[in-house]
Amino acid sequence: MKYIIGNWKMYLSPHESEKLARGLVLGYKLKAKSYQLVLCPSFDSLLTVGKIIKKSPFALGAQDVFWEEKGAYTGEESVGNLKEIGCQYIIVGHSERRHQLGETDEIVAKKFTAVLRAGLTPILCVGETAAELKSGKKKQVIQRQLTTALSLIGNCHPAGDHPKGEKLEIENLIVAYEPVWAIGTGTPETPEGARITHKFIREFLNKKFPEISKHIHIIYGGSVNSPNIAGFLRYSEIEGALVGGASTKLKEFVKIIQLTY
Ligand code: PGA
Repeated sequence: MKYIIGNWKMYLSPHESEKLARGLVLGYKLKAKSYQLVLCPSFDSLLTVGKIIKKSPFALGAQDVFWEEKGAYTGEESVGNLKEIGCQYIIVGHSERRHQLGETDEIVAKKFTAVLRAGLTPILCVGETAAELKSGKKKQVIQRQLTTALSLIGNCHPAGDHPKGEKLEIENLIVAYEPVWAIGTGTPETPEGARITHKFIREFLNKKFPEISKHIHIIYGGSVNSPNIAGFLRYSEIEGALVGGASTKLKEFVKIIQLTY
């Protein structure tokens, strides 16, 4: 499966989100051909957008989640609640949360596991900062981020046993390689550079997590737009895109989706 995922971040008001979703579904009547399309609006717009996209090729995703199911966690949202309102995908470990809100690898791992446990598809974001790139730590950072999240699910495989005796059905996992320096900057990684990193991630997963690697799809994110997306998607190593800013503009996002036809 390949994916085009729109991450609307905190760019749009509920009214604007509704308008954009209507435009995509009712205005342009977009179809999903070989790509699964996913929209991740902000929490306040999930219900409305969910209703609009119900019988469309778009699936609903959330931008974040908390790992506990219920309790005294002011301001948080559980996987169960998100599932109840129709979310199938949940972004975890986005760099804006890691770097602006102090989310550690351990926090991300707990969220990642909670999403899987509920049978939803996590979109695990990994990627190096400009400083880490400069100091030659890129591979090390990506390996650490992947290992911390994936180690919590141990040697689990489809319907396999969780280390704690829990059954975890793993069908689909998405890893989004998003170099932090490329996000929202208008300066994406080059398609060839992304291809090399995706290949590195795949080889690492095959070696370290052979049971689950085949269930993982690796997509690219960071300043993807309609002029540059085809360059990324022409490589088999790049199984889709996580699109931020460009997914919040109707005509631009329509163009991106139509380029996958
Ligand atoms: P961008 O964001 O496309 O605006 O760079 C991508 C992301 O953060 O997921």
